[in-house]
Amino acid sequence: MSSRAQRVGVLGAGQLALMLAQAAQPLGVEVICAGAAGDCAGRVAPLVEVDLEDRVAVQAFADTVDVVTIESENISANVLGGLPLFPNARAIGIAQERLAEKRFFHECGIDTAPFAPIDKLEDFTAAFAITGLPAILKTRRLGYDGKGQVRLTSVADAEAAWSEVGGAPSILEGVVPFTSEVSLLASRNRHGDTVYYPLIQNFHRDGILRTSLVPCNAPEVPGLQARAETYVARLLERLDYIGTLAVEFFLAGHRLIANEMAPRVHNSGHWTIEGAQTSQFSNHLRAILDMPLGSTASRPMAMLNCIGTMPPAHETESFRQLSRHDYGKQPRAGRKVGHLTFPRDAVADIEFWRHRLEESC
Ligand SMILES: Nc1ncnc2c1ncn2[C@@H]1O[C@H](COP(=O)(O)OP(=O)(O)O)[C@@H](O)[C@H]1O
Ligand SMILES: [Mg+2]
Repeated sequence: MSSRAQRVGVLGAGQLALMLAQAAQPLGVEVICAGAAGDCAGRVAPLVEVDLEDRVAVQAFADTVDVVTIESENISANVLGGLPLFPNARAIGIAQERLAEKRFFHECGIDTAPFAPIDKLEDFTAAFAITGLPAILKTRRLGYDGKGQVRLTSVADAEAAWSEVGGAPSILEGVVPFTSEVSLLASRNRHGDTVYYPLIQNFHRDGILRTSLVPCNAPEVPGLQARAETYVARLLERLDYIGTLAVEFFLAGHRLIANEMAPRVHNSGHWTIEGAQTSQFSNHLRAILDMPLGSTASRPMAMLNCIGTMPPAHETESFRQLSRHDYGKQPRAGRKVGHLTFPRDAVADIEFWRHRLEESC
């Protein structure tokens, strides 16, 4: 038997690939990324320049590794066939199309916001009858960080919203009057062994995740963790899912309403690097390589995203409880360029940095 390290090929070379590569080292696993020159994961892992739309190029890349995984669900289905891919192409296909995703949640007996497909302007009338107002128009594909979404407050907004999404196949969703947003992350390996992280509470601004807190603060809702785990277990089993899966929920009173799922490691789980015995990145690699999963025992943590620009290192350095992750990306408005994590009891530091980052991004 060869003793060479197992090789994981990641389609994409952004910060999620970067953190997968960092988690691979202690496992004795090699991560190789497929992306564009200058992508940030290239700082810590071999980066092969691959056009991710080119089926032949992706296949050639896959031939150099043992298993393939993704850092973004927005990869064309036509390059995914025939790869040793984890999670599988069906799971990715459902997660990359909002209509299929919502229908799949319903098939699994999980609540969603009211929704209706929009393929032409005339579809709005019937859709409003289902969603009510206010509503959100979302393109079915390629949305992230709130992109491809338009809010509607009256029936008269339909035409402008439809032209704003460029007439792309979309769905209209009723706005959920949520009390909080939470996510559940799980990792499942090839034997079906599954571990769950504690529910995470998430705060978005302008459609972009700003803050994640664990544990989530919903003491009035009994049995929430168990309920979320039951839902996610159904998704994992029906998809024969292997890897880390993130599911975003709205909590509206006692109702747990699924919003979307990400067939990959997720921004709301970045705190697991410092805060959990095994990070979401390590458990993703373990799952797809069929290793035993690691414990998700966690301590209370806060994660703050750095959007647009990274605060200077000389400013973060004097905060002893702060862990700084600079992805090494070029500053750009609305771009995730890094994150900070803190143990939850560093309350004053968390508040200081929450305000400081709000001012700067
Ligand atoms: N139906 C909805 N009701 C209320 N808020 C919503 C709804 N859909 C989206 N949002 C808000 O917008 C954010 C981003 O939307 P989401 O569907 O998660 O798209 P993305 O793929 O951009 O993350 C959500 O986290 C939530 O804050
Ligand atoms: Mg989302």
